[in-house]
Amino acid sequence: MKKFYVIGHPVAHSLSPKIHAMFAAQCGEEIDYQSIDFEPGCFIDSLGRLRREQNPYGANVTVPFKRDAADYCTELTERARVAGAVNTITFSGNQVFGDNTDGAGFVHDVCARCGFDFVGKRVLMLGAGGAARGVIAAIRPLGCARITVANRTESRAVSLAEEMGIHAAAFTDLGRGYDIVINATSAGLSGAAPAVPNTIFSDAQLAYDLVYAQYSTPFMRLARESGCPRVEDGLGMLIEQAAESFKVWLGVAPDTAPVYMALRAAAEKA
Ligand code: ATR
Repeated sequence: MKKFYVIGHPVAHSLSPKIHAMFAAQCGEEIDYQSIDFEPGCFIDSLGRLRREQNPYGANVTVPFKRDAADYCTELTERARVAGAVNTITFSGNQVFGDNTDGAGFVHDVCARCGFDFVGKRVLMLGAGGAARGVIAAIRPLGCARITVANRTESRAVSLAEEMGIHAAAFTDLGRGYDIVINATSAGLSGAAPAVPNTIFSDAQLAYDLVYAQYSTPFMRLARESGCPRVEDGLGMLIEQAAESFKVWLGVAPDTAPVYMALRAAAEKA
């Protein structure tokens, strides 16, 4: 049976094993997909050992190893190269192929499930790390009127904007005039929303946090309190990026809608 892992730290609560098990059942594939925790700083050694001992077919990589994974791979897809991060690895002999399905997962969820069309829209991206890079690369070709990146450390936003041909702003200079606000910062990990003025939500139809947590994140609460009519967490993106990884490995595209409904219902009961 083909073996797959999701590698992260911490990773015990990852939904990926459940999502891939549901995809496999739906598509009639037999796979063994488990989570595995690597100590930070030991990615290369730990992955080497896993390959020797388990001979995995593929792996998903999550926080904090996506950049380590990009360095480890012998070949990268264009979208992984632009993101500077890998979340999907395929092993083939000595070759290690790295891909990044996060941006495609985001676009699929926002366009297909949320019904948001990026054409002519003003986009505000909060954060300038790996998560922001992957998503900006995926939405850049979609015909937005303007993409602005804002970051706590302004210099990172400026250099990302220069590289991607988009606009940069400091948190303190932000105001109204955005159709969608995306949170790609990890501020929520410390229990806070990024320190942005709530006017950024004044014209927004959608606020989207890339993070999925059991409860509303501080960014989601801020967006709701600021009157944003639609606020979404990253559950849909998580399922869509998984579906894209599944397709990369097994060549079949699973139906994500029933998986989303099941996991959303389970989260609401918990
Ligand atoms: P990832 O790969 O998840 O994007 P990262 O590359 O470490 O992780 O980037 C984390 C992002 O969250 C950065 O944009 C970071 O801002 P800085 O460049 O100023 O560090 C942002 N971030 C982290 N904690 C934050 C906080 N408390 N408030 C606002 N932004 C924060």
